[in-house]
Amino acid sequence: MDRFKDKTVIVTGAGSGIGKSTALRLDAEGAKLLVIDINEEELGTTHSMLKNQSSTSHIINIASLNETKKFFKDFQETNKQLDALINVAGILRFDNSHEVEIENWNKILEINLTGTFFMCRYALPLLLESKGAIVNVSSSAAIGAHAWTAAYSASKGGISAFSKTLAVEYGMRGLNINCVCPASIQTPMSTNPKMPKDIDTRLLKKIMPLDGVNRSPDDIASTIAFLASEDAIHINGIDLRVDGGLLT
Ligand SMILES: NC(=O)c1ccc[n+]([C@@H]2O[C@H](COP(=O)([O-])OP(=O)(O)OC[C@H]3O[C@@H](n4cnc5c(N)ncnc54)[C@H](O)[C@@H]3O)[C@@H](O)[C@H]2O)c1
Repeated sequence: MDRFKDKTVIVTGAGSGIGKSTALRLDAEGAKLLVIDINEEELGTTHSMLKNQSSTSHIINIASLNETKKFFKDFQETNKQLDALINVAGILRFDNSHEVEIENWNKILEINLTGTFFMCRYALPLLLESKGAIVNVSSSAAIGAHAWTAAYSASKGGISAFSKTLAVEYGMRGLNINCVCPASIQTPMSTNPKMPKDIDTRLLKKIMPLDGVNRSPDDIASTIAFLASEDAIHINGIDLRVDGGLLT
């Protein structure tokens, strides 16, 4: 498939996990990519794996208004058009809700929610010209209940909610804006997470897919590639669960 031949796509969180798999998938389908992360070493590795020699890598903290603004200013000087924005970057931590530190609450909201918004905010004028797509990575935590993730769930619920606002606001002008809601994907984020002490382990059952199998980030990358492509032209403003039936 070469659905992204002659298309320019931005992918955040491309240094690891789902973002990295998405970058590699879009590259395999012909995209020119601008890959973003805060982890320079990991992003360098992803960049070195891309076949398209015109793809570039950018060390950006998506939660920084100045950095995202400058990224898009520079983008306009060196690129003809933007066809899709894929927001994957995010962080997670588990805490008993009555023990959440305000610094951690703010950090999760700033990166996951506000950072995703900053990227959309500055990409929208460019996407209006190309009639492009946005795919935001939300989570099953935005739709179903997860224990110990108050800040994370709030941030993902926010992403799903504001993405629908964007879909309604810009859908009539040709944009497709959707969310993917993954669960149980094997990445550095989900491997051996630090859990709060004294948790009730019965609650862990609530975060298992139906077949009990944790899947590869490639299984989310394929969904993201679909939603960002012309194949999904009639899909707008949805939360697409890719969760192994967890919330069924
Ligand atoms: N792994 C899962 O099971 C799962 C489930 C639901 C949702 N998600 C979501 O998928 C996305 C990717 O998660 P993952 O599992 O691949 O995690 P990951 O930790 O492997 O990758 C996240 C990437 O985001 C980058 N990042 C973090 N903060 C950033 C910032 N401020 N600016 C730029 N880049 C930043 C990290 O450096 C890292 O490379 C996240 O939004 C996560 O919430 C993951």
